[in-house]
Amino acid sequence: SVSSGFSFTANLFPLSSTTGGGYAPIGAPTMTPTQNGGLNGASLEKHKTLTYLNGLSLIVGLIIGSGIFSSPSQVNMNMGSPGGALIIWVVAGVLAWTGAASYAELGGAIPLNGGSQVYLAKIFHEVWGFLFMWVAVLVLKPGSAAIISIIMGEYVVRAAIGAEAETINPWYNKAVGLSGLFLVTFFNCVSTKLGTRVNDLLMFMKFIALLGVTITGVVVAFTGYSYNGEPNEDWKQNGWFEGTKMDASAWAVALYAGLWAYDGWDNTNYVVGEFRNPSRDLPRVIHTAMPLVILCYVLANLAYFLVLPLTATNSSNTIAVLFGSKVFGPIGSLFLALIVGASCFGALNSSTFTSSRLVYAASKEGYVPAFFGRVGIGANIMENRHVSSIRTRSRFSSALARFVGDEDTGLFFTPVNALVLNCLLTVGYVVVGEFDTLLTFYGVAGYTFYFLTVLALIVLRVKEPGLERPYKTWITTPIIFCCVSIFLLSRAVIAEPLQTLLVVAFVAAGVPVFFLRVRRKGPAKRPRDYDEDDEPGWKIWKRWRK
Ligand code: ARG
Repeated sequence: SVSSGFSFTANLFPLSSTTGGGYAPIGAPTMTPTQNGGLNGASLEKHKTLTYLNGLSLIVGLIIGSGIFSSPSQVNMNMGSPGGALIIWVVAGVLAWTGAASYAELGGAIPLNGGSQVYLAKIFHEVWGFLFMWVAVLVLKPGSAAIISIIMGEYVVRAAIGAEAETINPWYNKAVGLSGLFLVTFFNCVSTKLGTRVNDLLMFMKFIALLGVTITGVVVAFTGYSYNGEPNEDWKQNGWFEGTKMDASAWAVALYAGLWAYDGWDNTNYVVGEFRNPSRDLPRVIHTAMPLVILCYVLANLAYFLVLPLTATNSSNTIAVLFGSKVFGPIGSLFLALIVGASCFGALNSSTFTSSRLVYAASKEGYVPAFFGRVGIGANIMENRHVSSIRTRSRFSSALARFVGDEDTGLFFTPVNALVLNCLLTVGYVVVGEFDTLLTFYGVAGYTFYFLTVLALIVLRVKEPGLERPYKTWITTPIIFCCVSIFLLSRAVIAEPLQTLLVVAFVAAGVPVFFLRVRRKGPAKRPRDYDEDDEPGWKIWKRWRK
């Protein structure tokens, strides 16, 4: 038998997500591969491993990516003044925070993996949960990964060729971006630990970088130093609110640009089921991460204004690189380009991680073929025989496994197929993707589902006032979030009617898929020896199914 010495009690996925709580419950018990019909049904939540710090590094690592280093000019240009821009950074941050706080309440009340999918399915109808998955797996996740990898490519190429090079062939950027994507996909395939270690390291680097930018900015402002001897006087001469535009559509565009930099705040909710103590730690993670990120972003923007003249802050798409070159010359611009590249790489890495768990969860729901929910590379080739041989036979691979931290499970004990699917979709978007189209689509579709989910919180308060909510946010929080997202969405409809129509058409296309394919197959089977007392969320789910 291949199952000897091989058990699923091992810590397969410290951060994994399985079912979003549709029909298949979470937390299948310890079982051997043979009992389980291969690795296919491996369920991972029995071992709740996520701590407060893990959650923090996941969410901060995902949020701080490209935005703070490249989108400030869009905010500045559309607000017309530094003061106005700083207000937008605070407003966007607080908006993201209200969204995240609302999600924290939902995550505490319904402690299951899967994020919006679970909440929408339970509070409205399963079809809404499916539609979220449909859009998230096919567009939102790979689309945002494509955006980040293209930006990463831009910065790395710029660092290599030189900051001055204006006309860089976009295919160079795409090629470098794709290499980064393959690399993070590979890391995440090898082991969960490897992926999260890369993430922790890069998060640390990002904090240092943003702190460095801030300190540099303040020092430059005091000493008047600059590399080429031309101090920036704009911030002394102009009023901070001089020239502020009074135009709601410009504000909306600025807000969108700011929100991109804060995006990713919902990602801890995909893995709520993995927290050791979700009701305590999820709100704690969110209430530390969000103010921390807001503070970093506001300070970094302040530093940009102190160092760079307004003409530059309003127009540059690579503001951080410009900042570096103004203070330290060519070395500085090279250094900052590399930092931004690395920051995007980190965000891509965390995003790959959560996306793969979402695909994995979707497969457990029966929303995508079960093939994509499989765990381990061996399972695909020759059932689990291969995997156990990877684990036991090769000294090299077990040494490597010890190094990357997953010695219990061996290498490649990850949702490889889900990772590959996500990677392929992302490649598609990178290759054909029009950058601006992607960004608009992402904004409109993303905020539609954020809005619906937070609306669901309000509905749940009315429908089930007695439901136990370990964390309860002020009722104003979801109301503010809903109002601002409605404002943003309505502006998008006016400004980009065609794009909005595209989003609506795409979401609508999911409806027949759900009723013809998914619904027909009926509910997924529960694992044979599943113990429902292990899973607190299950009881709630059962009550709701009645
Ligand atoms: N905030 C990130 C950035 O500035 C983008 C996050 C993309 N969102 C996501 N869910 N992957 O680059």
